[in-house]
Amino acid sequence: MKLLAIETSCDETGISILSQADHITLGGNALASQIALHAQYGGVFPAMAKRAHAEKIVPLIKEALGQAGLLIEENSTLGTVSLDHIKSICTHEAELVTQLEVFFNTYKKPELDYIAVTVGPGLEPALWVGINTAKVLATVWNIPVIPVNHMEGHVVTAAIERLDDNTFAFKDLPFPLLALLVSGGHTELVLTKHFGDYQKIGQTRDDAVGEAFDKVARMLGLPYPGGPAVSKLAKEFRALNTPNTFELPRPMLHSQDYDFSFSGLKTAMLYMIRDLTEQNTREIADEEKITLAAAFEDAAIEVLIKKTLRAADEFHTQTIVVGGGVAGNGFLRDQLIALIAKKLPGVSVLFPEPWLATDNAVMIGLAACARVLNGSMQTQDALTLKANGNLSLDK
Ligand code: KG4
Ligand code: ZN
Repeated sequence: MKLLAIETSCDETGISILSQADHITLGGNALASQIALHAQYGGVFPAMAKRAHAEKIVPLIKEALGQAGLLIEENSTLGTVSLDHIKSICTHEAELVTQLEVFFNTYKKPELDYIAVTVGPGLEPALWVGINTAKVLATVWNIPVIPVNHMEGHVVTAAIERLDDNTFAFKDLPFPLLALLVSGGHTELVLTKHFGDYQKIGQTRDDAVGEAFDKVARMLGLPYPGGPAVSKLAKEFRALNTPNTFELPRPMLHSQDYDFSFSGLKTAMLYMIRDLTEQNTREIADEEKITLAAAFEDAAIEVLIKKTLRAADEFHTQTIVVGGGVAGNGFLRDQLIALIAKKLPGVSVLFPEPWLATDNAVMIGLAACARVLNGSMQTQDALTLKANGNLSLDK
């Protein structure tokens, strides 16, 4: 089974080619990040993200197919599909039509069994670029489409092991797994009964933790995306080994549910910075910046970890998988591993390899593979695919 996976839910355009036999082989992986584009504005604007996806997606398809040895020149594979039909699919992505036409006129239909595409959650204008591309590819090549939930991609990335450079396998893990999903748009605890069957047991009531990192970074004058930048400063502070003089709240730490809230923490940080600058009538100093970054990271990560531990205990999960951009946070990783070892010995905690933590198309292909393997994969008539910005993992 060989598939081409597409990811365009936020600010990364990704195409990957995966094949699954005894193991999963990554044949091609092409990724274009829009970070430099969005960094100028301090965040992601959906219309700009959409345009950037539409510019990049066809070159990335060629790149990934080329890596997999599937980009073979041959005149016209459009066959009976008319250009008008492609135009009717891409009414809102007119810039894609010419690129797709040239692509189909130049290259042979590759040997692929499926197209897997992110259908949500995410920014709908961005999602539609991937979805409409999938519709066109599926129609011209006459192959089925597997719709994928982006968050399922984040769940599965920690559950694989690398066998060699390009070969992976799913670990034999005891279900249910507890998934801690932490990204720019989501903060969720999800009980995973098997891949394809999820129960959300808690989520953020306002900002996602990655979003809070991004906003705090902006307050501290750090570039987008803020997570890695804030975390780097926090690490500098901890290396000094001095107590932190700034204390920030731990919202919902003791609430009996598994929900989170990061908006109050962000506001507390804003007031703290305002008080400092007003008192001293100057910009915050570098030492204060690293101290504030550490105070924020301490507070945010403590809440994530405490609730995760309590959920693992209550639901008797033997394995915790962490996914999403914030899974790349070294402090979260070290603290979670240390606290699990101390408080829940016997429970294992798995993180994705860093290149798989932030958005990419490999995770989308892996989610499709996981479902093929456990028999829960469903295809959908390409022309009925729709973007759903709020798609949930719960049924
Ligand atoms: O999963 P992702 O790539 O995109 C979404 O689906 O949202 O996550 C991006 C988020 C951003 O908010 C970014 O600041 C955060 O993940 N992030 C981090 C780290 N690396 C990325 N947050 C904290 N520490 C990090 N090392
Ligand atoms: Zn994501």
